Amino acid sequence: MTNLLINIDHVATLRNARREAFPDPVHAAVLCELAGADGIVFHLREDRRHINERDVRLLKETVKTKLDFELSTAEEIVAICCDVQPHLATLVPEHREEVTTEGGLDVVKSQARLETVIPRLYDAGIHEVALFVDPVAAQIAAAQAVGANSIELHTGDFALALTPEAQQAEAHKLAEAAAHAHDLGLQVHAGHGLDYQNYPVFARAVPHVHEVSIGFAVVARAVLVGMQQAVREMRLLVKGQ
Ligand code: PXP
Repeated sequence: MTNLLINIDHVATLRNARREAFPDPVHAAVLCELAGADGIVFHLREDRRHINERDVRLLKETVKTKLDFELSTAEEIVAICCDVQPHLATLVPEHREEVTTEGGLDVVKSQARLETVIPRLYDAGIHEVALFVDPVAAQIAAAQAVGANSIELHTGDFALALTPEAQQAEAHKLAEAAAHAHDLGLQVHAGHGLDYQNYPVFARAVPHVHEVSIGFAVVARAVLVGMQQAVREMRLLVKGQ
């Protein structure tokens, strides 16, 4: 069964918009867990536009399920991640001008840096290291070659597909990529832009998905129906219960 991890970055985005102390992403994480989420995801960005170090430390202390720390390979952030020791470290590309993560890592191009960072994460006691990649065979093979034991497939293009045909074509790419990763012994995660409408299409098409990371759709719905209701509705789609 696929695990549902909830990304709570956007709770911090709302807090920071008013430079207030609320809503607190740490409170949101508790509610996600109470509603049946299998884990909590956050991205500590270099510019600290949403999650900050106080959040990271408190999430480490309070999250009872799986903690997924998304990070770039920047030295400062890698050091914090090693110190925090989440269950899973997911390496993502990061560009200051972007509104959100815009695509997968270029693993081939970043090979040298990744070969330095990934062993440090394992040595710090982090058992799972994932690379966020586009559904491209060369990137998946490179992820295995540099020592990751998981990949997170970037589902952004699937989510942005405007017609059913385009959506099916993107789902097909994701399915092939998931099968390839699985054959290489990599655990398959997926995320970006998954929502209440497109998730069932994704789930029907793409095999071997061990966990999904979903943020914006759930936090946006939570504003209207409450966090626990929003998580329960997504959990029903992902886990059928
Ligand atoms: N996975 C990764 C690597 C991401 O960067 C993001 C966005 O923060 C997500 C999953 C979740 O995407 P969304 O907020 O669109 O559900």
